[in-house]
Amino acid sequence: MRRYSIQNKIVLPFILLFTVVVLIVPVITIALFDRKYDEQVSRETQEWLEAIVDTGYMHQPEKVKEAYGAEVTVVGNDNTVNYTTLSGDWTNFADEMKLDEVRKHIKESDLDFVSQNIIVDGRHYKVIYYQQASDRLYCLMRDIDKIAGAKRHVTLLMLGIAAVVILLVGVISHLIGRNLTNPIKDLVQFTRKVAGGNLNEQCKAKTHDEIGDLTVAFNQMTRDLRNSRNELISAERLATAGKMAASFAHEIRNPLSSMRMLAQMLMRKQDLSEARRKQSMEYILEEIERIDVIVKGFMDFARPASLDPAPHDLNQVLQEVLDLMEANLNHHQILLIKKFAPDLPAIPLDRDKLKQAFMNIVLNAMDAMPEGGTLEILTLQDPDRVRIDVMDTGVGIPPEDLNRLFEPFFTTKSQGTGLGLANAKRVLEQHSGDIQGKSVVEQGTTISLWLPLSSKS
Ligand SMILES: Nc1ncnc2c1ncn2[C@@H]1O[C@H](COP(=O)(O)OP(=O)(O)OP(=O)(O)O)[C@@H](O)[C@H]1O
Ligand SMILES: [Mg+2]
Repeated sequence: MRRYSIQNKIVLPFILLFTVVVLIVPVITIALFDRKYDEQVSRETQEWLEAIVDTGYMHQPEKVKEAYGAEVTVVGNDNTVNYTTLSGDWTNFADEMKLDEVRKHIKESDLDFVSQNIIVDGRHYKVIYYQQASDRLYCLMRDIDKIAGAKRHVTLLMLGIAAVVILLVGVISHLIGRNLTNPIKDLVQFTRKVAGGNLNEQCKAKTHDEIGDLTVAFNQMTRDLRNSRNELISAERLATAGKMAASFAHEIRNPLSSMRMLAQMLMRKQDLSEARRKQSMEYILEEIERIDVIVKGFMDFARPASLDPAPHDLNQVLQEVLDLMEANLNHHQILLIKKFAPDLPAIPLDRDKLKQAFMNIVLNAMDAMPEGGTLEILTLQDPDRVRIDVMDTGVGIPPEDLNRLFEPFFTTKSQGTGLGLANAKRVLEQHSGDIQGKSVVEQGTTISLWLPLSSKS
């Protein structure tokens, strides 16, 4: 599962940080400022009230309104409005000003003045209450609507700025993230190509930073890898060529030396009977035939003809080989068991080459069961390839020979070329398939072949 991309890891913390900064900081600042300002207004209004009480302006509300620009309301002990500078109907004044609570508060706190922020008729007021004799309440009401409006305005402005800043931070960090991650994405794509075996391309370094350095280093690594792979291939080719030449020389040496001996004998003994002479000539021809077989096998291996694949029913191709060999198998008292997977799809393969490879494997199995036995052939379908198993109950292969099985010229048979399995491996590789063998001495051998369901381009 893909976790957060690097780009998100860059963008999200920035947005989070700036959201916190541009939202929380102004909110706290406004709240603190509001509290300080409120304290200041309360104190100032209280001072006004003290001055009003001291100067006896208490009984001239109109003058107070003129001097301070504040409204005055006087409420009787039954909370009815005795007098007010406010215009309008004030029958519900007690409820709107929550006078019961105010009186309770004054009684409990033992204070001369109590202040409160209220909204009357949609306007914000700071009210200082002063309890006069006979429980009358003197309410000095200072209009703070402008301040409340300013506060609302500032809060909206701050939120607007916050939204713009967050948007800008989002866009900028997205661009920075993209700038950083695009070269990384290119490099990742390139490494995939390299991992897929394409060592011929180079990744373009678009930036002059650490990622650019990484790209340059990666290109260098790819070049080194390509060079060492090429060196390895040519060294391997040389080694294989040398080994093959040596094996080839070894293989044709035996027939050549018997031919030489026979030829020398024919030259030396002039008085040989016609029958002996004829037999010696036949031996020489047989050896020439044998050299011919070795040379042909070698040519097949050294210069394999190109593949000519076409979709075929694999089971049927195998059956054609088995039909050819049926009599031979019966003759050697070998029981043939076939377990073919039904409904195999048509597989792209070179019919003749595969038949040749399969026939060689069956012939090897027959050679391994001189006293008879069981030969089991099965085909089965894996998700993207098909497997063919050829199992015999023959002599088996010792572990030390097992890893030389597909080596050219490896043979344990006096008449064998040792090219049968090497050629089979070559054919399977040409089909982008595989071949493997496993064996237990005296119990039998299984040769498994794999063919892809679709041809790789
Ligand atoms: N089914 C098998 N059981 C036991 N040994 C096997 C089997 N298949 C292969 N081998 C061993 O692997 C060797 C190489 O096999 P390969 O088919 O390449 O050559 P070969 O059979 O010896 O020669 P040729 O195929 O030319 O007749 C054989 O000589 C034999 O020792
Ligand atoms: Mg063979």
